[in-house]
Amino acid sequence: MGQRIGVALIGLGTVGSGVVQILEDAVGRDMRLQSVDLVGVAVRDLSKPRTVAIGSDRLTEDALTLIENPEVSIVIEVMGGVEKPYALIRRALELGKHVVTANKALLARHGQELFALAKANRVQIRYEAAVCGGIPVLQPLQQCFGANRVTSAIGIVNGTTNYILTQMADRSLAYTEALAEAQSLGYAEADPRADVDGNDAQEKIAILSSIAFRLPLPELDQIYREGISAIALGDVRYAQQLGFAIKLLAFAVRQSDGRIDLRVHPTLVPLEHPLSRVDGAFNAVVIEADPVGQIMFYGPGAGGGPTASAVVSDVINICAELAYPVQSAVAEAIDFPGYLPIGEVRTRFYIRLKAFDLPGVIGHFGRIFGDHGVSLESIVQKNPHGEAAELVIITHNVQESQMRSALDEIREGTYLKEFCTAIRVLPEG
Ligand code: NAP
Ligand code: HSE
Repeated sequence: MGQRIGVALIGLGTVGSGVVQILEDAVGRDMRLQSVDLVGVAVRDLSKPRTVAIGSDRLTEDALTLIENPEVSIVIEVMGGVEKPYALIRRALELGKHVVTANKALLARHGQELFALAKANRVQIRYEAAVCGGIPVLQPLQQCFGANRVTSAIGIVNGTTNYILTQMADRSLAYTEALAEAQSLGYAEADPRADVDGNDAQEKIAILSSIAFRLPLPELDQIYREGISAIALGDVRYAQQLGFAIKLLAFAVRQSDGRIDLRVHPTLVPLEHPLSRVDGAFNAVVIEADPVGQIMFYGPGAGGGPTASAVVSDVINICAELAYPVQSAVAEAIDFPGYLPIGEVRTRFYIRLKAFDLPGVIGHFGRIFGDHGVSLESIVQKNPHGEAAELVIITHNVQESQMRSALDEIREGTYLKEFCTAIRVLPEG
């Protein structure tokens, strides 16, 4: 069977425990997995009870010494955070060890430097689990789309927010209850604000777009981000009545001038669109590429088992390449015209606001939208509450900057009682 390959695991939480379960029960899986030895596991707190059986001789709180162990050839980092794993991964690469990580927060900030370090040390860094959990999407994009030019990647890339929005829609569960469930199921980040504020999806679309468009990782501040915390149950219900589901979508869309539109925000998705039917912690990404056309990747986007599946597959792929090495490439930006500012994006909008129920109120808002070049598809008055009328408005395609200036004027006007939500609408098809 050839030489045995020593692996160090850093982190034994949701994902790390899933990795141990696979490594310790390799029978019936890839033959190369049977030559992998789990040398040791680093944790933060040795006294914590564990869900997997690991002898105390293989557990340590000293991740650095474990990484430096000469028996270790591959380091799996599933501890989370940014600065600590950054230092540990740097050290591993400098020592000539291969690295597998599920850490999108780290890669989105230090990935370019770590890829270059890996290349300089002739080792691999793999991160399939960092985007869409158990769905193989990065490696297929790298290896099976080589004959294609990708034009867009649009998808649901965060399981926690999709779980929350699904529970709000299907069970009328309050946002906070749905979040607590997602946390107890092991989907959420250690600090769940990373999920609900859209940071996790922002990091993932940074990584996904760099692979799809074969570019260096973008800076995170080039990616417009909006989370789901402003979405109310009322919005979910109105969206359903209008024929939409609300999803947190990540967009990476190549424009005709070569610029790339990167953004993350809640979106009204038409019920006929396949992304509207991606529920719970599932993720999906729709890729448009020439000449293949449209391909959708769909599957479990979070959770211990699915994510560990992607992590261990990366380990197996490293083992395969140890036998037949391939020089890894680091993307370089050549003649790239840059990213599209959010103000230049054109999209439809759903707007919900509460207005004083006075004569001329609809005409007042209609005039403001018209003055800013925003054309309305429909405007409906819902459930008048005492003196306040709730207006639900759908616009035609409009430039984001014009919409923002219209909303600024509306916010300052006397007819507005409360501005509730503005959600972009995904085109059909
Ligand atoms: P988790 O359940 O919080 O587990 C983190 C583990 O890392 C714990 O075992 C913790 O030790 C250990 N750890 C923390 N600091 C450490 C240190 N300084 N030295 C050694 N060990 C340390 O997290 P998780 O959900 O498994 O996520 C891990 C990573 O995978 C994150 O980067 C996350 O973004 C990514 N990811 C998670 C999922 C998912 O569905 N959960 C999916 C894709 C990617 P103790 O147990 O002793 O506290
Ligand atoms: N917190 C992340 C999510 C884990 O909910 O998608 C998977 O990356």
